[in-house]
Amino acid sequence: MTDLLDAGERLGRAELAALQLERLRATLRHAYENVEFHRRAFDAAGVRPEDCRDLADLARFPFTTKADLRETYPFGMFAVERSRVRRIHASSGTTGLPTVVGYTDGDLDLWADVMARSIRAAGGRPGQTVHVAYGYGLFTGGLGAHYGAERLGCTVVPASGGMTARQVRLIQDFRPEIIMVTPSYMLTLLDEFERQGVDPRTTSLRTGIFGAEPWTEEMRREIEERCGIDAVDVYGLSEVIGPGVAQECVETKDGLHVWEDHFYPEVVDPLTGEVLPDGERGELVFTSLTKEAMPVIRYRTRDLTRLLPGTARVFRRMERVTGRSDDMVILRGVNLFPTQIEEIVLRTPGLAPHFQLRLTREGRLDALTVRVEARPGATAEVRERAARAVEAAVKDGIGVSVVVEVVDPETLERSVGKIRRIVDLRDGG
Ligand code: DLL
Repeated sequence: MTDLLDAGERLGRAELAALQLERLRATLRHAYENVEFHRRAFDAAGVRPEDCRDLADLARFPFTTKADLRETYPFGMFAVERSRVRRIHASSGTTGLPTVVGYTDGDLDLWADVMARSIRAAGGRPGQTVHVAYGYGLFTGGLGAHYGAERLGCTVVPASGGMTARQVRLIQDFRPEIIMVTPSYMLTLLDEFERQGVDPRTTSLRTGIFGAEPWTEEMRREIEERCGIDAVDVYGLSEVIGPGVAQECVETKDGLHVWEDHFYPEVVDPLTGEVLPDGERGELVFTSLTKEAMPVIRYRTRDLTRLLPGTARVFRRMERVTGRSDDMVILRGVNLFPTQIEEIVLRTPGLAPHFQLRLTREGRLDALTVRVEARPGATAEVRERAARAVEAAVKDGIGVSVVVEVVDPETLERSVGKIRRIVDLRDGG
């Protein structure tokens, strides 16, 4: 394996820190000199790029939020002339304006490199075929995976999302070793294989690279067993570059190595903004170290995780993201993430991994109904037992009462990309 590592992956910790500091100082300068928003923010905080003499000094610099990106919509965060911006992506978000990001030739090159590194860490090798079922378009998933796979020397099938029956046909005919797709859409594909009478374990697939939404160890097991593949986690966000910010290595499957030579991570207390020591859970914050068109300075991801030492690589790991602060449901004072329900559902015999969380208001109290599909063939008795088991597990494990409705197989809406788990039926919701 070591002979496959690129130069960045071979650095020692001290060399890495020196490189990070040099790149960080250059990025702070680039942002200060070329983006009015950053210049004003630094000035207001009383810091200058040259005040960063040590990596820890970064904590003195101001954060950037999604709201800041919206305020400078569409191109206010760009740090280069428009003629040097080679591509635009945008993330739709749930409310208001999309967040727009831009890439120079150099940025696109960097992105292909880190994504190629990710696919290799997942077990991919030159010469293999990659089926990309992330959506192509303004979303960074499809094109990010695409150029990374090409950079690694793979053959790419740019399937994009949707047309599920055709995807299954293409996988059988083109015989890819690797699939890149959201975990929820992978489940849709597995169901389609089975509907067509094809055992997914008999396909050519060996590796699945899943991300763009939270998923759990229980989901990993479900997908690995049903499909006979290694399922690994890929993380990223448009504002930082897209997919390929952090990647789980197939040999350890122990969280995601952050490609720290290009993206500098911090974990902060979400309320106070104070930097937390490695190992403590909080909000993940990124500063880009090598981006040109749109450097990001202390960008608040709203994703919750913690940083851990490296294992299969020199880079630190982030624990899998189990949710973002925006997905958190506060139910009668108790915080709940959809992934906590996913874990329970997948541990319960008779239930399929398809579920939806419906929020309603009864009088002045919020109520949550978990709608979950039965596995095909589950008897009425099994379904009843499963419903009560989930209710009890949520009460015991999370500390709140919910109602569980077990519905027939194939009745809930299927994902073709990022799944929406929460249906908010409260006033105005
Ligand atoms: O989802 C980029 C991406 C595409 C990542 C394909 C991986 C694979 P955005 O649309 O900007 O970009 O959404 C970013 O998605 O802040 C997380 O909340 C969530 N997310 C992404 N990857 C993971 C993951 C892409 N592996 C937002 N686990 C992020 C949990 C993830 N959440």
